[in-house]
Amino acid sequence: MKPSANTTSAEYLGFEDVAYDRDWCRADLSQVPNVIVKPPGPKSKKMHDATKRVYKGLSGQVKLFPVCFSEGKGVTLTDVDGNTYLDFSSGIYVTTLGHCHPKISAAVAHWAGRLMNCHDFTTPVKEALMAKLVDVMPGDLNGVQLYDSGTVAVEAGLRICRAATGKTEFLSCFMDFHGKSLGAVSCGRMNGMYASTRMPGFYMLPRPDTYRPLWTRADGTLDTEAYLEFYDKAIVDGTTGQVAAFVLEPIQGWGGTIIPPDDFFPKLRKFCDERKILLMADEVLTGTGRTGQWLCMQNWNVLPDVVALGKGFGNGFPVTACIVREGIKENFEKISASSSYGGNPMACAATLASLQVIEEENLLENARHLGAIALKRMEQMKARHKIIGDVRAKGCLMGIELVKDRKTKAPFDEAGRMVYAKAFERGLAWIPAGHILRLSPPIIMNDDELLKGLNIIDEAIGETEKEMGY
Ligand SMILES: Cc1ncc(COP(=O)(O)O)c(C=O)c1O
Repeated sequence: MKPSANTTSAEYLGFEDVAYDRDWCRADLSQVPNVIVKPPGPKSKKMHDATKRVYKGLSGQVKLFPVCFSEGKGVTLTDVDGNTYLDFSSGIYVTTLGHCHPKISAAVAHWAGRLMNCHDFTTPVKEALMAKLVDVMPGDLNGVQLYDSGTVAVEAGLRICRAATGKTEFLSCFMDFHGKSLGAVSCGRMNGMYASTRMPGFYMLPRPDTYRPLWTRADGTLDTEAYLEFYDKAIVDGTTGQVAAFVLEPIQGWGGTIIPPDDFFPKLRKFCDERKILLMADEVLTGTGRTGQWLCMQNWNVLPDVVALGKGFGNGFPVTACIVREGIKENFEKISASSSYGGNPMACAATLASLQVIEEENLLENARHLGAIALKRMEQMKARHKIIGDVRAKGCLMGIELVKDRKTKAPFDEAGRMVYAKAFERGLAWIPAGHILRLSPPIIMNDDELLKGLNIIDEAIGETEKEMGY
C-alpha cells in the first residue's frame, strides 16, 4: 500500500511552492563560455594555495585545474577570476538539475530557517517525501532509509543484504566504484586505495564491456552467456556458497560509462533469482534521472532488490538513500539503520523538490532526448577523428573512448588528458579523463547548450590529433 500524503499543499510540505521562469537556467551562448583569464587565474591560484596549505587530499580534478568557483547558475559555473564555464560535469555527476534550482534552493532555505535536525523523528516534509518516493520508484521498492553520502547508503545496502539472506559474501565487478569505506572499497577497485585491503568474502568478476568484450560469439559480438557461465564457476569454486548479493553499477560511471549489452541485466536478474542471490544496484551515480529513468535499471525493465541512491538525489544537498523491496524492508530493523543526519528536514526538502522538478519539467524525457542528440553528434565526431574508438550515451551519461589505434584499441591516456585540458581552457567545466572522456551535463540543458559543449570537445580532439601527429 502506498502511504497517502497531500503532496500538492505547500503548507503541508513546509516550503512555499515557488513560481519561477522555466528559462531561469538558460545560458546566453553568445556570452558562455567566457574565459577572460587563462584558468586558473591569479585570484583562483591565491585562494587555492591558501586553502591547500591546510586542506589535504584533493582530487585529481582539482589538482589539474585549481580554479576557485564562486557561483553556479543553471548550466553555468563562474570562478573568482570572472571566467564563466559551461558545466558538463554537474559537480561530479551531482547537480543533475543544474546549479541552484529556485525551487530546490527555496525548499532547503525554508527548513534551514525552521528545523535543521531532529534525528530520525518524522517531519511533515519527510512524510511527503516518503509518499513521493514510493510513487516514483518502480515496482515494490518501498522500504527507505536516508543517509548523507553515497558510501553510507551502499554500506547500508550491504548490511541489509546480509540481514535479509543470513549470508555474508558479495560478488561485484572489476573497476566499479562504490565509495571509500571498507565495505564499499571491498566491492570496488583497489587502485588508489592505499593501505586498504579487500575484506574476506568479497569477490570480483569481469563485467561485460561491448567495446572490449572478454568473450565473444562467432560473429564477434559480446557473449553474455559466457559471462554468466564464468560467474557460475566463480561462485562454485571461489565462494563458500554463502553469497548474499551481486552488487554492481548498472552503468559503470567512473570506470568510463561502460554500458552493458541489453540482454545482460534481464539475464543477470534470472541468474541471481535461480541462486537466491539478491541483486543490489549501486545507482548513486546513475539514478534519479541521469539516464532518463528514475532508476537506470529501468532502461532494461529490471528491478533490483536493493538500490543505493545519491549524488543527484538531492541535487547537491548531501542526501542519499538505501531503498529495498517490500519483502526485504523489515530487515532495516535488524541493522540499526538510522544515522545522525539521514533524513533531516533540509535533506528531505531538497530531495522532494528535486523529484517534483523532474516530474513538473518532464526531465526524464529531456535526458533521453539529449542522450539521443549527443550520440548522433558523437558518432559524427567518431567518423572524423581517428583517435575515437567508441562513443556511448544513456541519457545524460556519456562517454568517448580514445585509442591510439582502432585495430589494437590501445588506450590513449595522453590524448585524454590533453583533450580535457584544451576543452577546460575553452570554458568547459567537465570530468577529467584517462583515455575515456566522461560527460555528465545537467539534464535541464537544451539542445543548443549541449551541442555547444560537444563542439568544444570536438575542437579539442581535433587539435590534440594535430599535435600528436594523427
Ligand atoms: C557508483 C558510486 N557509488 C558510490 C559512490 C560514493 O558516493 P559518495 O562520494 O557520496 O560517498 C560514488 C561516488 O562517486 C559512486 O559513483
